[in-house]
Amino acid sequence: MILVTGGAGYIGSHFVLYCKEHGEQPIVLDNLVYGHKEAVPAGVPLIVGDMGDSKLLDEIFTRYPIDAVVHFAAYAYVGESVTDPAKYYLNNTVATLAVLEAMRRHGVSNFIFSSTCATYGNPITVPMDENHPQAPINPYGQSKYFVEQILKAYSLAYKLKFVALRYFNAAGGDPEGRIGESHDPETHLIPIALQVAQGKRPHISVFGTDYDTPDGTCIRDYIHILDLAQAHQLALKLLRDGGESSIFNLGSEQGYSVNDVLNICEKVTRRTIKRVNEPRRAGDPPRLVASASKARTVLGWAPTFQNLDAIIETAWKWEEKRHY
Ligand code: UFG
Repeated sequence: MILVTGGAGYIGSHFVLYCKEHGEQPIVLDNLVYGHKEAVPAGVPLIVGDMGDSKLLDEIFTRYPIDAVVHFAAYAYVGESVTDPAKYYLNNTVATLAVLEAMRRHGVSNFIFSSTCATYGNPITVPMDENHPQAPINPYGQSKYFVEQILKAYSLAYKLKFVALRYFNAAGGDPEGRIGESHDPETHLIPIALQVAQGKRPHISVFGTDYDTPDGTCIRDYIHILDLAQAHQLALKLLRDGGESSIFNLGSEQGYSVNDVLNICEKVTRRTIKRVNEPRRAGDPPRLVASASKARTVLGWAPTFQNLDAIIETAWKWEEKRHY
C-alpha cells in the first residue's frame, strides 16, 4: 500500500487516480488547506490531517500495511515563499522530516519526492540535466532543495531509499475531465488563459516581453500530469525492485514561450484571449527546459502527450466541466 501525502492536490490527485487504475492501493493524507476532497477518487481512504503530526503518522503506519510513501504535500506559491519564507521552510522542509522520521520508526524505506526545477535557480545551460548546478533563487525552491539534501544523508545513514523527481511545468488534467487543476488563488498560465477564453476573466497579463528569447516572453517546458504520474509509478517500481536512490528531471524537453502557449490556447478553445503586456514577474527565470533522457533511459519513462495542443485540450476539458 502507498501513502500519498498531498493526494488531494493537483499533482497528487492525478497520481492517486493513475495508480488506482494501475492496480495500486493508495491512501491519502492531506490537510485540505489547498487540496480538494472531491479530487480523491471514491474508494480511496482520505485522512484529513497534517503531515507534521507524528502521532497521526504513527496511527496511519500502524493501521495500514504501507511499503512506500509518495510525498506531494507542499506549499507551492513561489511569490508567497518570498514574503513568508517561514511557512515554506516549516511545512515543506520541517514537516517532511516528521514523515521521514515516522517512516524510520515503522521500517518503511521507499520514498518518492516531488522536487522541482526551481531547485536549479537561473539556468546556466539549456536544456538542463540533473547535473546542472543547484542554486535556488527563492525559499520555495530552497525548501525542496533542503529536502533533497536530507534525503541524500538519510539514504547513506539509514535504510531509506528515495527517488526525487524534479518536475518542470505540470499541466493538463484527466483526459475524461473528472479531475483537473484548481488552485485558489490561481497563478498559473494555462488555467488563467482558459478562464479568459471562457469569459470568467477579462484578460491575461503577460509578465515580461523583454526577455532574451525569440518573442521576448518566458520559455517553459510543459509536461502532462499523467506523464508525471506514470514516472512516479516507474520510480516506485525501481525502488521496490531493489534499485538505487536516484534523481530525475521530468519534462517534455520542448520549450514554449508565454505567447506560444496563449496562441495554442486560442487554437484549442477557438476563442480570442485578450493579452495585456505587463512588467516581468519577480523570480521568473527566462528559460527552463529539461533534459529528461535519464528518466527515459533508467526508468523507461515514455511520456504519452507529445505536444502542448494535446495537453491543453485536457486542461480545456476540465475547465468546461470543473466541479471544484
Ligand atoms: N505567466 C504570465 N501570466 C500569468 C501567469 C503566468 O505571463 O498570468 C507567465 C509566467 O511569468 C511564466 C510562465 O507564464 O513565465 C509560466 O508561469 P506559471 O506560473 O504557469 O509557472 P511557473 O513557471 O512560474 O511555475 C512552475 C510551477 C511552480 C514551480 C516553478 C518552477 O508552477 O510550482 O514552475 O520554476 F516552482
